[in-house]
Amino acid sequence: MTAPAFTPRVFSGIQPSGGLTLGNYLGALKRFVDMQNDGSFECVFCLVDLHAITVWQDPKTLAQQTREAAAGFMASGIDPKSSILFNQAQVSAHAELGWLFNCVARMGWMGRMTQWKDKAGKNTENASLGLFAYPALMAADILAYHATHVPVGDDQKQHLELTRDIAAKFNHDFGVDFFPITEPVIDGPATRVMSLRDGTKKMSKSDPSDMSRINLTDDADMILKKFKKARTDPEPLPETYGDLKDRPEARNLVDIYAALSGQSTDDVMGEVAGQGWGQFKPHLAEVAAEKIGPISDEMARLMSDPAEIDRILGDGSDRAREIADPIVAKTRDIMGMISS
Ligand code: AMP
Ligand code: TRP
Repeated sequence: MTAPAFTPRVFSGIQPSGGLTLGNYLGALKRFVDMQNDGSFECVFCLVDLHAITVWQDPKTLAQQTREAAAGFMASGIDPKSSILFNQAQVSAHAELGWLFNCVARMGWMGRMTQWKDKAGKNTENASLGLFAYPALMAADILAYHATHVPVGDDQKQHLELTRDIAAKFNHDFGVDFFPITEPVIDGPATRVMSLRDGTKKMSKSDPSDMSRINLTDDADMILKKFKKARTDPEPLPETYGDLKDRPEARNLVDIYAALSGQSTDDVMGEVAGQGWGQFKPHLAEVAAEKIGPISDEMARLMSDPAEIDRILGDGSDRAREIADPIVAKTRDIMGMISS
């Protein structure tokens, strides 16, 4: 359990490495908004550009992608006045604490990370050192704010366990109770939204096929087209959710529908059991377009004033520094470094 001395604080991040997907929305953004509106937490949300550059990012597009992601947060319901919204590179505490944690984390821990293995592939010799150290920077993101709760999609579970290991090792090595042991928040029907082309792969902004994902900027026609083309099996929808166990593509579409319509998967099955895909897919597309349409309109409106987005990120960075700088200064102090 988290020590009661820590302020209930949420931290989460999204990489501005491309457009936002329905996976990001259901697995992350929508849940960030719920936690913000719950009112029990201070919320800090970050566009993690330092993480994005662990693989090549074109400097001509990175700033624009970061603004678009910020617009996606706000259009989904993040209020930059009540929550802190900023980009990581503007707050140097992240890079600094990331280095300190590079000296706490062990090579063996990093080598076991499945995201490292997936992203580096066979050619580890040619992967950036930053890609290997990625989870230590992520731990720094979270712990620079003494965050107690971190909402993420299922793919980040292992990184959050490593964050807890780093906090525990630091506390143990230096004989302090300084960093909280953060609680991952991974719940709801859509913590792992799968690709529309392959029910065993997660929906991702980096998938080469645009047909594999719904983007928050897709219009209603495109959403309909993508769901119609989504891979499924020929069977109609069964009576119970349990019957979808060995039907990953079918289950994924049911999960998406449940998350979008705010129903439990059992209630969804009560509504759609026996339907064929010709009936279910257009209905799903309609529900998705109703949710995404207003978000994508609002993103376009916000993107028409990039200077205002930069101002919001600058303001968020100032507020982020106020929390993170003293925590990193205290970390240096605990480690025995001289500072004036
Ligand atoms: P990323 O786009 O990899 O920076 O992910 C940002 C957040 O969105 C993290 O909390 C991820 O776990 C979440 N996320 C990304 N893709 C998916 C997905 N397909 N299903 C559910 N959550 C996702
Ligand atoms: N690694 C996360 C992802 O790819 C993004 C991330 C970076 C993050 N720092 C974080 C998520 C801190 C939660 C908390 O999805």
